[in-house]
Amino acid sequence: KNIAVVMGGYSSEYLISLKSGSVVMNHLNKTLYNAYEVHIFKEKWVLLFDNKEFEIDRHNFSTNVNGNKIQFDCVFNAIHGTPGEDGQFLSYLELIGIPHTSAPSYQMALTFNKRDCLSVVKPYGIKTAESYYLNLGDPIITSEIVEKVGLPCFVKANKAGSSFGISKVYKTEELEYAIENSFKEDDEIIIESFLDGKEVSVGVINYKGETKVLPITEIVSENDFFDYEAKYQGASQEITPARLTKDEQQKVEAIAKKAYEILRMSGFSRSEFIFKNGEPHMLEMNTVPGLTEESILPQQATEAGISLEDLFGNAIEMALK
Ligand code: DAL
Ligand code: MG
Repeated sequence: KNIAVVMGGYSSEYLISLKSGSVVMNHLNKTLYNAYEVHIFKEKWVLLFDNKEFEIDRHNFSTNVNGNKIQFDCVFNAIHGTPGEDGQFLSYLELIGIPHTSAPSYQMALTFNKRDCLSVVKPYGIKTAESYYLNLGDPIITSEIVEKVGLPCFVKANKAGSSFGISKVYKTEELEYAIENSFKEDDEIIIESFLDGKEVSVGVINYKGETKVLPITEIVSENDFFDYEAKYQGASQEITPARLTKDEQQKVEAIAKKAYEILRMSGFSRSEFIFKNGEPHMLEMNTVPGLTEESILPQQATEAGISLEDLFGNAIEMALK
């Protein structure tokens, strides 16, 4: 089968996506799949072959390599951020009838929006941080924000990843600058109260047709929070399986699974939680989790006895079902 591993994308996360994509390329079973590296950038959509670039025909997502037409049976989505993780590119694939490894485009758009995702799960009893939302152009009334979420607080781009556009704010005077900074990444921002407790990351995937919760990872950041440097330059410890009591483990596993099911997800997911007063509070769900050597989901799969070849092959087989 011909598989296009799409990577790159239009967001600040494109370098991480290129790394994730190359890890996928290196771990697809070569006897089952012909894997092709496809770069999706604003300026060009191209297939890479023999160090040459072949332009993709956007009418049917095919290309011509040295006179041979190449069409794809499935697309492996390794684009973090827009247009992969937010569903845009997937809705195009759905329109032209090419299966992909992610959840349907609506689920992807919904979950990529932190505010909307959390708003959907909250009425089901899933706890979240106290929050305040701003759209670009809204008046910024810092006293009102601090009254609602307290200090310190987190200012985040609502639709972004890898901690781009996130800062931790300790003083009211720092808020405006942090907000401007987040608006560089997105035209919506989310300001949340600081939850002081153990942080964990929970992978949930559709494995062989069943919702499977992977071993939990505990995140111990050496920086003030789990920022870009902590994520990718080693300034953190990621401990799998997490050091949780049986009760904590069962609670957070059940909530992560419930969120996956409430949101009618399929494919990959990795949700973030912080324990406060013994209760997991959900921060977000990542639906194109990092697949680099440093990334958490591959570590969790390995801990569960699922090789990367099996993890990625399963995603393709579920997409083709
Ligand atoms: N946004 C990054 C890639 C992650 O969630 O792993
Ligand atoms: Mg994220």
